[in-house]
Amino acid sequence: MGDPLTECHSRLEQQEKEIKRLSAEIESIKNPKNLDPTARLDELREENAKLKYRLNILKRSLQESPPSSLTPLSDSKAMLNINQRLQQIFGRAISAAYPEIEGPPVAVTPTNQAKFGDYQCNSVMAMYQMLKAKGAKVNPVEIAEKVVKNLPDNELIEKTEIARQGFINIHLKRSFVSQLLSKLLVNGVQPPPLSKKKKVVVDFSSPNIAKEMHVGHLRSTIIGDSMCRLFEFLGYEVLRLNHVGDWGTQFGMLIAHLQDKFPDYLTTSPPISDLQAFYKESKKRFDEEEDFKKRAYQCVVRLQSKEPDFIKAWNLICDVSRREFQRVYDCLDIKLIERGESYYQEMMTEVVKEFEERGFVELDEGRKIVFATGHSVPLTVVKSDGGYTYDTSDLAAIRNRLFDEKADIIIYVTDSGQASHFQLIFAAAQMIGWYDPKVTRVEHAGFGVVLGEDKKKFKTRSGDTVRLMDLLEEGLKRSMDKLKDKERDKMLSPEELEKAQKAVAFGCIKYADLSHNRINDYIFSFDKMLDDRGNTAAYLLYAFTRIRSISRLANIDEATLRKAAETTEVLLDHEKEWKLGKCILRFPEVLQKITDDLLLHTLCDYLYELATTFTEFYDSCYCVEKDRKTGEVIKVNMWRMLLCDAAAVMAKGFDILGITPVSRM
Ligand code: ARG
Repeated sequence: MGDPLTECHSRLEQQEKEIKRLSAEIESIKNPKNLDPTARLDELREENAKLKYRLNILKRSLQESPPSSLTPLSDSKAMLNINQRLQQIFGRAISAAYPEIEGPPVAVTPTNQAKFGDYQCNSVMAMYQMLKAKGAKVNPVEIAEKVVKNLPDNELIEKTEIARQGFINIHLKRSFVSQLLSKLLVNGVQPPPLSKKKKVVVDFSSPNIAKEMHVGHLRSTIIGDSMCRLFEFLGYEVLRLNHVGDWGTQFGMLIAHLQDKFPDYLTTSPPISDLQAFYKESKKRFDEEEDFKKRAYQCVVRLQSKEPDFIKAWNLICDVSRREFQRVYDCLDIKLIERGESYYQEMMTEVVKEFEERGFVELDEGRKIVFATGHSVPLTVVKSDGGYTYDTSDLAAIRNRLFDEKADIIIYVTDSGQASHFQLIFAAAQMIGWYDPKVTRVEHAGFGVVLGEDKKKFKTRSGDTVRLMDLLEEGLKRSMDKLKDKERDKMLSPEELEKAQKAVAFGCIKYADLSHNRINDYIFSFDKMLDDRGNTAAYLLYAFTRIRSISRLANIDEATLRKAAETTEVLLDHEKEWKLGKCILRFPEVLQKITDDLLLHTLCDYLYELATTFTEFYDSCYCVEKDRKTGEVIKVNMWRMLLCDAAAVMAKGFDILGITPVSRM
């Protein structure tokens, strides 16, 4: 296994070469519109930007750990990131042992088998390659030995073993792990300290007014909300923006149609219950009636010049859509601030001016276009009819977020189909000097499409797009069926049953989305997501209620548990206790990873592992011992109760995913 830093470096190098080669190829091709190499070039550039970003993270983590002495552990209430601490320790050891290696690779991972210890350092192979390239005569085991000899004094390593090919197995000190668990129990799940309050803008959900809010928007809504929750937990100031499409030319025809169908719309609100149908009717007229088309164009102009009656009509239409969207957001408990394209209207004018003044604008058949450095496809900032585009509004939006909102991080959550649009926007914003990617993190977090169980685009049986409210309602129905199958309706009160129904339905829909790597397409299947075996929210919710019920069944109240957290040592002698304890403490490293790559499925995988590890523990370690005959509690193994309580990290994980656990189901 290669270490990430070297891998990153060499891939970057290879790709830089490929970029040079392709650029040359493009130059030599007479027809510059030849798409193949350009498309590949854009792809490579995007990938390279990602690699560079990753490289910076890795470099930063190295710089934070200069060789020799180890910085003492801070006394913050936060959970310690064991992996990061081990990286520091091994970073020191590696630099001390081999000062001649520049930017030595430091790679530590948890092991997947107990026989390899608890964590593993995988740096030696890469170091061996680097040393060999310098002509040194060494073998991996010797390198590993030298690294181990140089390990600084530290609080958490019990012992190390050198395995084949120089892998270093790390065994953690039980007493230290136990102390970390006690600290967690006393302080609760605390985020790592932030050196400075930072601001994040997350642009997500963002459906289009008067058009269908489709499953793609559902993905964006779920993923974006979870990212917001992550940053909120980490203590960032988060601005949740709904960049709705509310300023397109479609409004011309909608308003023209509204004027015909509901001429008194200025005094009474027209009952457009079905905006979709209304949209279709107006589109039909737009395509078929020449006069209507002309009038529709005039309406756009009059709307954009803010004539009050037109603004009123526009508002009416937006309101109908907004109410629809809100129903979805209410179900899923999503909070958003609507700041649609129209919000940037005036700023767009300024932005175009700024690009013109800086000499970046070219004329092309009446359009105003901008070529961003390194890109062969231009942005269109003004159409030939004088109107603005999706490009213009996004340029205005990014500028506003950088300068007025003063964001440190900006994330756009849309389907991957928009990747090239955002790469152009980011490149143009950098070209004009609005931000430096080394300082501000601006990222498009793309995702794949939602497929039906037939692996084709997600559609209803009749081939229409699926309405989100219908989908959510079906989820509710299916979740209730499932609960009734299990005869939960006989055990739970009607309120509890309803709570469980919603938690399962919406939890499962969210989790099904989040537990897949967002980059990939995913198959929407109610049967799979509601299955309570396997990596599903249904399984996790059950597992969680079981953990929570243990102290209830043993009649231990919160106060007793809190007291015990301060006074009872968390014993980790049993193999399953040890495994569970370590798993619980991996929470901070999982958070670190998802903050870096914004891939939330890592958190889902972790929660699933935690739940199964917990089940193993529960199956082989008694928390409470009861009299076989009377069922009376004879002994409470308090430290095990505490281990159950430490599963609070699971609740925090649910919280970040936007899933609501229930106490009974
Ligand atoms: N309304 C757009 C769509 O439905 C998504 C907007 C995403 N955000 C942005 N700043 N462009 O495709």
